[in-house]
Amino acid sequence: MKTYNPQPVTFEKGDGACLWDEQGKQYLDALSGIAVCGLGHAHPDVAKALCDQGSTLIHTSNIYRVKRQQELADLLCNVSGMDSVFFSNSGAEANEAAIKLARMYGSQKKIGAPEIIVMEKSFHGRTLATLSATGNKKIQAGFEPLVTGFIHVPFNDIEAINRVAQDSKNIVAVLVEPVQGEGGIRIPDENYLNGIREICDRNDWLMMLDEIQTGMCRSGKWFAHQYNNISPDVMTLAKGLGNGVPIGACLAKGRAARVFQPGTHGSTYGGNPLVCHVAKTVIETLDKINAPQAASTLGKQILDSFRGKLSGVDGIQDIRGMGLLLAIELDRPCAELVGLGIDKGILINVTDENVIRLLPPIIITGQQAEEITEIVSGLILSFLSR
Ligand SMILES: Cc1ncc(COP(=O)(O)O)c(C=O)c1O
Repeated sequence: MKTYNPQPVTFEKGDGACLWDEQGKQYLDALSGIAVCGLGHAHPDVAKALCDQGSTLIHTSNIYRVKRQQELADLLCNVSGMDSVFFSNSGAEANEAAIKLARMYGSQKKIGAPEIIVMEKSFHGRTLATLSATGNKKIQAGFEPLVTGFIHVPFNDIEAINRVAQDSKNIVAVLVEPVQGEGGIRIPDENYLNGIREICDRNDWLMMLDEIQTGMCRSGKWFAHQYNNISPDVMTLAKGLGNGVPIGACLAKGRAARVFQPGTHGSTYGGNPLVCHVAKTVIETLDKINAPQAASTLGKQILDSFRGKLSGVDGIQDIRGMGLLLAIELDRPCAELVGLGIDKGILINVTDENVIRLLPPIIITGQQAEEITEIVSGLILSFLSR
């Protein structure tokens, strides 16, 4: 179906932060398949895990115990401090699990029509419930009636959440991205998440973090909320967790970890031995290379370099980032930069119409990081001077 409008390029192979198209032209990947391939392309450890498990056991069913799933869950709980995990096949499904968990939490508290506070400009996925939670009318258009039970408030506005808290007795949870990804790499005030944590504690709500884009070391920490020294009740992951194999996870802690019981939620493929063995290898490899430190150092290098080259230039509105979540905001729509980038052999993204978004692999070298800033700055300067 024509759900995509792809760029006229087909990639044939990859290695680290590089890709090659059918004609053999080389590209520098500053997007990682939208924050997926943190370990880059064709990583030998990931490839080996895929081959080893693929030739041993791919799938059984969640009707039976799945050893690889338990191993991955133990490791994930270890790095995140969470208590239990439900495995899905995508980010949207991980958020679906979180939304269902919040509703069931409400139901167990005898709240008949539970509501979840979500943010304007957020993105949580394309299933009916997750697009209803998403704060973007374009993504919702044509799919009405939307799933009810979501209250949208402005992002980075604690008072807006407090006002809703006073007006409604049906709230059960807040669902928020620590940094809005699709919304344009929007980084909230330093204490925003702490404020949400306090409100949730005061009202007995679940704090649910969508770390699908920010998680798995991209932010410069394993998970972006670790900058705030808090822990959520629920956290969703996908993207960088599998480095390209389809996996999502909904993690829960404390009382939230006890909400689902046998039969309340499920998935045929979710958490099968193949994806779990790969994801476990991804975590071990991220740990081995100290990926949080690498993302933090490389991110700072790229940000400083962009600021040196572009600060004060007419048309540049902001240059911001957290680890390897990076954005350059222009004063005008700039979607065509994606195609111009492809011509120049670099993969970038434009989101929210005027925000150039860069999500390079965490394994890029310092030299590749410098190349990204050189090429992208050149592209932006020539675009702005037209
Ligand atoms: C923050 C966030 N949540 C959810 C999703 C949906 O993930 P998926 O496309 O794997 O369903 C995305 C995807 O871009 C995302 O960035």
